[in-house]
Amino acid sequence: MSHEKKSRYEELMDSLRREPRTWLVTGAAGFIGANLVELLLALDQRVVALDNFATGYRHNLDDIQASVGTRAVDFRFIEGDIQDLDTCRAACDGVDLVLHQAALGSVPRSIENPIATNQANIGGFLNMLVAARDAGVRRFVYAASSSTYGDHPGLPKVEDHIGRPLSPYAVTKYVNELYAGVFQRAYGLQSIGLRYFNVFGRRQDPNGAYAAVIPRFVSGLLRGEPCCINGDGETSRDFCYIDNVLQANLLAATAEDEGVTDQIYNVACGDRTTLNELFRMIRDGLAEHRPELARVQPAYGEFRPGDVRHSQAAIGKIRRRLGYVPTHSVERGLREALRWYLVDVESGARSDPIRCSAGGAVVA
Ligand SMILES: NC(=O)c1ccc[n+]([C@@H]2O[C@H](COP(=O)([O-])OP(=O)(O)OC[C@H]3O[C@@H](n4cnc5c(N)ncnc54)[C@H](O)[C@@H]3O)[C@@H](O)[C@H]2O)c1
Repeated sequence: MSHEKKSRYEELMDSLRREPRTWLVTGAAGFIGANLVELLLALDQRVVALDNFATGYRHNLDDIQASVGTRAVDFRFIEGDIQDLDTCRAACDGVDLVLHQAALGSVPRSIENPIATNQANIGGFLNMLVAARDAGVRRFVYAASSSTYGDHPGLPKVEDHIGRPLSPYAVTKYVNELYAGVFQRAYGLQSIGLRYFNVFGRRQDPNGAYAAVIPRFVSGLLRGEPCCINGDGETSRDFCYIDNVLQANLLAATAEDEGVTDQIYNVACGDRTTLNELFRMIRDGLAEHRPELARVQPAYGEFRPGDVRHSQAAIGKIRRRLGYVPTHSVERGLREALRWYLVDVESGARSDPIRCSAGGAVVA
């Protein structure tokens, strides 16, 4: 029998099973939201989920219900828009903890349509804060973004030192942090902002013009389409596997010390991978199953406006204050993600095979 000491996260999962809570996950049909819902249901929690399917998919929820089976009795889905205050109020009713993920992601989308991004990400966010406050929610944890570091040159990125935003999306995510702080100080709504750094993993959408770089490379390679890197490929990111993000959310929502709230935390691995390295890792990983991919080379395009050159997180604050210990390096996360794309998507186990997508730009 193993006598290894359990991590804080393992202990937390045990205690949640013993004492289930009621959670609201917004953006529940999206990549991160659906993974959160799945984990919470697997831990026998009561889950309310909200989404308007702007960028999320019904099949994500169907897959979860199929995988968790009877546990899904404690699951309630509301199809609705966070831009409608009454919808937010209905969703927050009777909820202990909110994990707010709903937003229009993507820097290029916000550059093309800043109004839509602003309305969902700021108007919708404010509605959620008001609804959570009025419903007496215990804690409001929300998806912030590494884009808030903007043009600050420092590496690694430390929570207190941000630069000027480089996109409308980054503005909205920074405003979220400002509003959440004000709601804690003015109304006592406990909040924690998690600045995610380039999250990847199962259920991340490989399709569409705004797909993130990892699913786009994977689908490009599997489809035999050219993989285009924006710039010279030496742009770097702190790619963070979904399981690390799930851990950060659960730790943030349940940390007992109120002193950890009214705070922002980086969520990442604390590493840096260039797009050239990333391409090689994905190609070589896929080539183990598809030897014909071993020699594929990427194409190179223009640098993209709004993108920062390098990004790497300092993760000391979240380690010290929330007990976060990333379980997945980029390499381990990629192995799991590739298996998911190959086995689950390619075999047709899921309802959405990788489709050809329009537009060649790669989103990092
Ligand atoms: N994926 C990343 O690398 C990353 C990095 C930093 C921050 N984030 C943030 O994490 C959160 C989740 O991102 P994701 O990658 O899962 O994206 P996603 O697009 O897969 O999920 C977002 C979900 O929100 C829903 N949504 C959008 N607008 C809505 C509205 N007005 N009302 C209700 N639902 C709405 C969408 O339909 C979608 O299901 C977002 O807030 C995003 O800004 C993501």
